[in-house]
Amino acid sequence: MNLKNEVLQELKKFDLTYNLSDFENLFVLSVDAKNGDVCLPCFMLAKQFKTAPNIIAQNLCDEIAKQVSKNGIIEKVEAVNGYLNIFANKEMVAKKIVTEILTEKQNFGKFDLYKGKTVVLDYSSVNLAKYMHIGHLKTTIIGLVMKNICEQVGYKTISINYVGDYGTPFGKMITAYKHWGNKEDVEKRGVDAVQDLYVKFNQVAETDESLNDEARLWFKKIEEGDKEAVELSNWIIELCRGEVERLCNELGAKFDSWRGERYYSDKMQPVIDELKAAGLTKVSEGATVVDLEEYGLGVALIQKSDGTSLYLTRDLAAVEDRYKNYKFDKAIYVTDIAQKLHFKQLFKIVELLKKPYAGKLEHLAYGRYSLPTGKIASRMGKQALLKDLLEAGINKSKEIMKERGTKVSDANLVSKQVAVGAISFEALKYEKVKDTVYDMEASLNFDGETSPYMQYTYARCCSIIEKANTNINLKEVDFKNITSAEGFDLIKLLNKFPQTILDAYEKQEPCLIVRLLMDIASEFNKFYTNNRIIDNGVVNIKNLSVVNAVKIVFENGFKIVNIPAISKM
Ligand code: ARG
Repeated sequence: MNLKNEVLQELKKFDLTYNLSDFENLFVLSVDAKNGDVCLPCFMLAKQFKTAPNIIAQNLCDEIAKQVSKNGIIEKVEAVNGYLNIFANKEMVAKKIVTEILTEKQNFGKFDLYKGKTVVLDYSSVNLAKYMHIGHLKTTIIGLVMKNICEQVGYKTISINYVGDYGTPFGKMITAYKHWGNKEDVEKRGVDAVQDLYVKFNQVAETDESLNDEARLWFKKIEEGDKEAVELSNWIIELCRGEVERLCNELGAKFDSWRGERYYSDKMQPVIDELKAAGLTKVSEGATVVDLEEYGLGVALIQKSDGTSLYLTRDLAAVEDRYKNYKFDKAIYVTDIAQKLHFKQLFKIVELLKKPYAGKLEHLAYGRYSLPTGKIASRMGKQALLKDLLEAGINKSKEIMKERGTKVSDANLVSKQVAVGAISFEALKYEKVKDTVYDMEASLNFDGETSPYMQYTYARCCSIIEKANTNINLKEVDFKNITSAEGFDLIKLLNKFPQTILDAYEKQEPCLIVRLLMDIASEFNKFYTNNRIIDNGVVNIKNLSVVNAVKIVFENGFKIVNIPAISKM
């Protein structure tokens, strides 16, 4: 329910000296329960009516107090230091919220605001020449969660992993393979063998410059469509891509398209021609550029003097292709903040070309991970590869569960779910622009603000419900005299879920959802400590209905933020 609106609706029916309809946006949900549920700071009104805020608050309070009715949503008002604090009828509010959640179930927090609209999300999009590492975590997880959020508000989504499968690294790999590789080894060890070759190339090339020339030659051959070069590079790229796909799957990220940069490498000409025809290009030292100085965006390189294409040009071709394929209403690119200028240039050029998708492109930029800390991290070395991170997470959570004596039917599955949850939570817990340090051990802790703590709280709800083994007849649930400690604060938190989804969508801040879920988990544990749900075999239906509502919100929320819901752990 929209608590604020319902309070406002009722206030509108009252006869008040000050016309509050001009001040509706000043009303806020109270942060602290002792200040009621909805609050009006009277400072702006004071300016307007040239009366001290505490007097306005007091006047309003007196007038409202006279008009509150028994079956209205407003129960009590107080004037404190220039604030008008409105207390809602707890019984009514609690009943309404719990009923809503228990009836809407998986639809609680779902909207059809953007029904019929399509959003294309470009995330993960890793360069294939290297193992996936911790630096790829945020784009993969934030992208995936943004996709979930978009679906939650009604969009149809298209997820694209625009892999970096193009460029000299693949020339280097072929060179290395030609010198030191063998087919059986690569077939057997797959991406590990390819990586070894790549590392070896870089080591040897430090002293032997000719290797780089060879690599450039192989890359040129790939570009020219030389049969051997194309076959070898395809083979290598498929191996690397397969591994990235496997890791993404492990994390829960599935893509509708894997069309990468290479696909666009020979589709540059139309882009360049179009830019020329629009009079946007200049030739500078043999290279083709678009001068964006007047927009404070520097000079964008479109084609090098040797004719090779560039990241920006490929992105121009890619966005055109995506628009053709999906007719999107919005496209979101999820990358590290370091690519800010690149996307600004891309969006500006699209605008200058007056493309139908100008204004529909967004860059969701996030801060970087610095190297992880903690024991596991130092064992993993500087690279912190995603596969190692996942494996370490699985092992560590197995260890912890053993220590805690947790009995689950499938320890492998549960420990993987714990690891995926912890990794997702790590990528999401702060505002996206923050640079973060990943502490693997802390993230797997079952106490404190961690994903396992939330998962554990969810499992607790499940076990209570299972134990109670009682159907809830909503009509019979009675919230008479419910207090803050008896679940009212918890219920109000649950009620924040739908609005938080909308805020997370608007601000592109998945952390808002994660934080709310964390707040719910700690508030639930307080509730659980202070209240009996099953007492001497007798089930308290009111409390059980609250547990059910918490369970539903966890399920809906976890699904969005990629934390697996585990019913037993
Ligand atoms: N492959 C790029 C990188 O690893 C990210 C690609 C982002 N997407 C895009 N359309 N440019 O830095």
